Amino acid sequence: MPYTKELHDEIIRKSHERSLKYGIEKERVESKKILKGSEISLNIKKNQELIRIATPFIKNLYDILKGSGFLIILTDKDGCILYIIGDKNVMYAAEELNMIVGAYMDEKSIGTNAMGTAIKEDLPIQISAKEHFINAYHRWTCSAAPIHDNNGNIIGTLNLTGHSHEVHPHTLGLAVAAVMSIENQLKIESVQKELLKSYLFTNTIMNSISYGVLAVDIEGIIQNCNTTACRMLKRNENGILYKPVKNMISNWNNIIKHIKLGKKYENEEVIFKDIGKFSLSVNPIKDEEGNLVGLVLVMNEIQRILNLVNKYTAMRARYTFDDYIYKCDSMKRIISFAKDIADSPSTVLIQGESGTGKEILAQSIHNHSLRAEKPFVAVNCGAIPKNLIESELFGYEYGAFTGAKKGGRPGKFELANGGTLFLDEIGEMPLDMQVNLLRVLQEGYITRVGGSKIIPVNVRIIAATNKDLKEEINKGTFREDLYYRLIVIPITIPPLRERREDIKVIIEHFLKTKAKKLNKPIPNISENLMNKIMNYDWPGNIRELENFIENVVNLGGNTTFNIENKFDIKYMNNIRNRSYYKGVNNHENINSNGNINNNGSINSKNINSNGNINYDENINSENINSENINSENINSENINSENMNNEDINNKDINNKDINNIGKCYYIKNVNTDDIYLCNLEELEKRAIYAVLKKYKWNISKSAKILGISRNTLYLKMKRYCIENTG
Ligand SMILES: Nc1ncnc2c1ncn2[C@@H]1O[C@H](COP(=O)(O)OP(=O)(O)OP(=O)(O)O)[C@@H](O)[C@H]1O
Ligand SMILES: [Mg+2]
Repeated sequence: MPYTKELHDEIIRKSHERSLKYGIEKERVESKKILKGSEISLNIKKNQELIRIATPFIKNLYDILKGSGFLIILTDKDGCILYIIGDKNVMYAAEELNMIVGAYMDEKSIGTNAMGTAIKEDLPIQISAKEHFINAYHRWTCSAAPIHDNNGNIIGTLNLTGHSHEVHPHTLGLAVAAVMSIENQLKIESVQKELLKSYLFTNTIMNSISYGVLAVDIEGIIQNCNTTACRMLKRNENGILYKPVKNMISNWNNIIKHIKLGKKYENEEVIFKDIGKFSLSVNPIKDEEGNLVGLVLVMNEIQRILNLVNKYTAMRARYTFDDYIYKCDSMKRIISFAKDIADSPSTVLIQGESGTGKEILAQSIHNHSLRAEKPFVAVNCGAIPKNLIESELFGYEYGAFTGAKKGGRPGKFELANGGTLFLDEIGEMPLDMQVNLLRVLQEGYITRVGGSKIIPVNVRIIAATNKDLKEEINKGTFREDLYYRLIVIPITIPPLRERREDIKVIIEHFLKTKAKKLNKPIPNISENLMNKIMNYDWPGNIRELENFIENVVNLGGNTTFNIENKFDIKYMNNIRNRSYYKGVNNHENINSNGNINNNGSINSKNINSNGNINYDENINSENINSENINSENINSENINSENMNNEDINNKDINNKDINNIGKCYYIKNVNTDDIYLCNLEELEKRAIYAVLKKYKWNISKSAKILGISRNTLYLKMKRYCIENTG
C-alpha cells in the first residue's frame, strides 16, 4: 500500500489512542522506563553486534549532518537507547528530557514518537511537533526507520531528531538510507560468517584426508592444496601455491585434453617430476553453465594403495609362533631356529610333507620379523595357470596383452614390497618362470610384463615345497641354480609320525579349538581310540589330524574316520608324493611282472611267488646293513649306525616292538644320501596289493595273477586290509 497522508494520519491517530490506553500523560517529560547502572551495560552488551555494525554508519551520517541541529539515536528492538550522537545544543535539550542511553522510546513508555511508532508499525516514519503524544516533544521532528536482521526481524531503530521547524521529508530518507546500509552490512557479515564456517569445514576436511589434494584454476595454476599434498610433494604451501601444475606433472597437457573431452581421469599412475609416481584422479570444477573453471587433483601414494589392496585381500599373515603347537625336541629346535632367522633378509626354503605346517611356519616367521607390519603375500605356484604366472608375479603394463586391464596392474612382488612373498609349492613352478624368478632374486628388481621400467623391490622370499627339489633337479624339472638361491636357509618340518610326542598336545589343542568353534563340549577320547590315533601314521599330517579331531568333536568322542585303515587312496597318493618314499607303493615302479622295483633296491628277485618280499641285501645297502632285515629280525643292531642320522632315528620309535606292530611304518632319513623306507612285511603286502589292484583297474583275476595268489586269497586279503575299490 502506498504511504499517503491519510495513511500517515491514521497511523498517528491510532498511536495516540494507544498512548492514552497506556496511560501516558501529556505533561510527561521523560520516558516511564529508564535503565540504570549495570542494567545499561548489560543491555549494551546484549546489543553489541548491532552497535558495532551501526556506529560507523551513524558517525558517517553525523559527519554530513554536523552543525545542522540534529541528533542521531540508535535503539534496540524494544526502543531502548543504545547510542546517541548530535550537536551540543540539541544533545543538551534531549538530556533535559532524559533522552539518554538506557531510556525507552517505545509507545508504552513515552507515547507516540518516531522510534516507538516505527517499531509498532514496522515502518519508517517521520513524526513532527504535535504528532508527538507528549507536549514536551512538540518542539521536535523525528524520523526513524526500523533495522531488520537477515530474517526480517526488527533488531533496532535509527532515528534523526531535530527542531520541529527543521522538518524535511529528506530527513526520513537519510534515516532509511542509513538503515539500508546497516542491514546490508549485517547481510555481508552473516555471509562472511557462513563463508568462514564453510572454509573452516573444507579446510579441516581437506587436511584430515589422507589423499593429497590440489585445486587448480583453468590456467593450471595451483590455487589450493592440503597438508597431505605438501607432505607428498615434499614442499610447504609456498612452494606449491600459485605455481603452474604442469611444472610438476610431465603429461599435464594430455590430462587436460582428456578432461576437456569430457572423459574421466581416475587412478592413473602419474610421475610427479623429481618426486615419484602417484596414483592421480582429476575432477573438473564446472560453473552453472557447465563451463570448466578449474580442476581438483586427488593424489594417492601407490604403496598406500598396495597396502590397502593387501589389507582387503587378506594379504596378511595370521599365524604366529604362539599358534604353533609342538612338544618334541626336533620341533623345538626348528622353532627356535626359525625365530633366530626371522629378521634375516635371506631366502628360506621350507620342506615337508603336505599338512606339516609349512605355511603356518612361513607366516609365523614373517610375524616375528621386522616386516610384521608389512604385507605377507602368498602365491601358490601350483595353482596359477602357466601362462598367467609371470603377470601374477611381476604385474603388467597397459596393453601388455589382450584382456590386460587398462592402466596395468602390479604383481605379487610389488604387492609384497617391504614384506614377505611366500612362494608355496615352488616345486610346481614352470621352468621358464624359474629363470625369471632367479633373475629377480639376484638383481632385486622386477620389470612388469610389457614394460621396460625397472621397479626395485624389497621382498623377503620364503618358499615351500613338499617335493624333493633335488630329485626334481635330477628329473630336469627344477633348476639347480634356483635351488641353491632358495635354500639359503633350509628348514625341514618332519612329518607327524616322526614326532609322535606332538600328537597328544596337538589333539588337546584341536579338541579345545574345535569344541569352541562347533559350540560343543570337549569330548573324552577313549583309550582304545587314543591307541589307534597314536599308532596311525597320519599321512595327511596335522591337517588330517585336525580334520579327524573335528570329526570326533562333532560325534562327541566317536569317529566315522577309519584310522585303522591307513591304506586308502589319499594315503597312497600322499605316499607317492613323498620324496622320502622311493618307489615303494608307486605303481610306476611295479614292472609288468608285478615286481616292485625300489630304486634298484627291491626288484623282481625279491618278490617270491607267495607275494612275500625278501629284503635280502636289497634295501639301499649303502645306508643300511640289510642282511638281517625282515619282519622278524629288524632291531637296532641291524641298522648301520654310521650311516644313520641320529636325529632322524629315534630309538624310541624304532625298536623291535614298534616294527613288529601291525601296520606300522617308518622311514629313516640319511643325511648323506637318500632316504629309505622301512616297514613290516604285512604293510608292504598291503601296499603291493593296493598298487596292483589300482594298476589293473581293480580287475581281481588279473591282479591275483600278478600278485601270485588266488582270487579268493586276494578277496580275503582285501577284506583283512580293508582295501576297497576306489575306482
Ligand atoms: N604345529 C601346528 N600347530 C597347530 N596347527 C598346525 C600346526 N602345523 C600345522 N597346523 C595346522 O595344519 C593345517 C595345515 O598347515 P599348513 O597349511 O601350514 O600345512 P602345509 O605344510 O603348508 O600343507 P600343504 O603342503 O598341504 O600346503 C593348518 O590348518 C594349520 O593350522
Ligand atoms: Mg601349504
